[in-house]
Amino acid sequence: MPGLGGDFYRLLIVSEPENSKNDEGSLAGVTVAGSLQEVMEAPPTVYELVGGQSFFDDLVNRFYDAVEADPVLRPLYPGDLRPSRARLAGFLGQYWGGPPLYSQTRGHPRLRLRHMPFAIGWAEREAWMRHMTAALDAARVANGSGRRLPTEIRALMFDYFDNAATFLVNRGD
Ligand code: HEM
Repeated sequence: MPGLGGDFYRLLIVSEPENSKNDEGSLAGVTVAGSLQEVMEAPPTVYELVGGQSFFDDLVNRFYDAVEADPVLRPLYPGDLRPSRARLAGFLGQYWGGPPLYSQTRGHPRLRLRHMPFAIGWAEREAWMRHMTAALDAARVANGSGRRLPTEIRALMFDYFDNAATFLVNRGD
């Protein structure tokens, strides 16, 4: 997970797939790293700073509404975009420090492998980034304040998407 720099410690919530057969009532697959004191004193994760899962749900809904109307990207995606929305939102919440919702249903992300069936050239990458950038610009912190994303968090997310999108290009144009 990326950090905000310098003295930024993180409350680590990690999934334990090999230990998933927990008794009912236990915290399935979730452990908190560090002593209780460390956890209590840890600065918040990006996930917490943006207001939790509903931030990522809104971001992904904006993004997929644009994909739905995009002639370059729409043909790559399945007819029903609801499962795709849930997968991307779960993945992003988990990536930025939230509970491992994605891995609980999908296992290890293996994003490059999972994108191989789709022809992703530079045109697809640019269309994807255009919609995600617009979604980031429109995004509001999900804490009722109506505020835009703080500049450092927007920059962290933009850089992450920009690098990941390049990494997922799997065809020459
Ligand atoms: C570069 C342009 C990209 C294109 C054209 C693209 C396209 C797709 C398509 C067609 C799917 C299948 C829809 C589904 O079943 O969910 C998919 C899934 C997914 N994409 Fe992308 N994607 C791109 C970049 C990214 C980036 C940058 C990320 C993450 C930062 C990402 C994360 C995901 C995730 C988490 C899934 C669901 C994987 C699964 O569990 O099956 N994608 N993408």
